Amino acid sequence: MKSFILKGDIAYSISKERTEYLENAYLVCEDGVSKGVFRSLPEEYAHLPLSDRTGKLIIPGLVDLHIHAPQFAYRGLGMDMELLDWLNAYAFPEEAKYNDLAYAERAYTIFSQAMKNCATTRACVFSTLHKDATVLLMEQLEYSGIVSYVGKVNMDRESPESYKEASAEESLKSTREWIEETKGRFENTYPIITPRFVPSCTGELLKGLSELSEEYALPVQSHLSENPSEVELVRTLEPLCPFYGAVYEKYALFGGDKKTVMAHCVYSSDEEIRLMKQNGVYIAHCPASNMNVSSGIAPVRKYLDADLHIGLGSDVAGGQTESLFSTIVEAVQNSKLYWRVVDQKYPPLRFEEAFYLATKGGGSFFGKVGSFEEGYEFDALVFDDSRIRHPQKLSLPERLERLVYLGGDRRCMKEKYVRGTQIDLDE
Ligand code: GUN
Ligand code: FE
Repeated sequence: MKSFILKGDIAYSISKERTEYLENAYLVCEDGVSKGVFRSLPEEYAHLPLSDRTGKLIIPGLVDLHIHAPQFAYRGLGMDMELLDWLNAYAFPEEAKYNDLAYAERAYTIFSQAMKNCATTRACVFSTLHKDATVLLMEQLEYSGIVSYVGKVNMDRESPESYKEASAEESLKSTREWIEETKGRFENTYPIITPRFVPSCTGELLKGLSELSEEYALPVQSHLSENPSEVELVRTLEPLCPFYGAVYEKYALFGGDKKTVMAHCVYSSDEEIRLMKQNGVYIAHCPASNMNVSSGIAPVRKYLDADLHIGLGSDVAGGQTESLFSTIVEAVQNSKLYWRVVDQKYPPLRFEEAFYLATKGGGSFFGKVGSFEEGYEFDALVFDDSRIRHPQKLSLPERLERLVYLGGDRRCMKEKYVRGTQIDLDE
């Protein structure tokens, strides 16, 4: 059923400055696309079936611009190191296990069930180096019902022998095979070109990936300016490039006609920021990860004020949880620390700005996604927030903020819709 009406208390972002709140309103879905939110139901939609969710809170689905599927198995573990040591001690050994398809199947079943049941409706996902395990992950995610970009990871240098591709040529060959096998095969799951980050990719590999991205018209995802020792390593490896992002730019993997999302941007220089703005590069802000692997505090207010494209990422397992409600809270907290500790020129984010980042901000990477305005793809979540009891009547803005801060995605989510299709949530 892709044409129907939900009636309830509805909240969604129009822009980073403006959030709409309508109590007892009608949200109309026609063929998987929103026709808008109405205080009284227009006659032309009166024939559609109506699901009465009076008293429930309805918001757009949430967008995770950066998550590592193979790291889901060790989320909440190994929080005792900073980025580069953490990659070597935990991420690479765990990811190496996905060479074993039986292990990949067990682990990705757990991951995709989590994606199905959480508040995320869209995600940009890193897989591992392995082509077959990546195909398996895509099959699992398709089954979950969410919409995702999934990337086979590429690494041909500065990585352990047990988790590295033999050469740029080998890496490109298996990437091409993976694209051929998966492109156009799924309704909701698409390939995305995924050089892990500059330290793990030679120029030859980046050049080849850029060509593949052009040939198949695929978007790009990677990491950028995340951690001081990583930024320093890039400076040593690529001394001729004036800043980290310039390496991706050199190989045409940095926005422009290639839709690109870069995770972190904690240490982006003014030049790097200018280039991201000019090229329309998306930033995936991952505050939990930035704390857990001691990366730092990203200047999100600066990016918002400069009108860069920006959304949120859970970055599991740098981030401990797939919950984007947690990420919204952490984004606000991160911005408060930036203001207090780093630079008082940049005031903290308001809750509604972080809510915008998790919905419409990141959503635009997927097209018209993350809002209920007319023409937006219909991704929606329904919550019974009466389960979080309160002695007084709360306003709708208060209910939304409280729902997010108190982990209502785990406690109160009742229904989830993606492109107008209701997901059959497990209890
Ligand atoms: N940089 C390169 N790989 C990774 C990763 O797996 N996680 C994080 N947080 N940063 C990275
Ligand atoms: Fe990451």
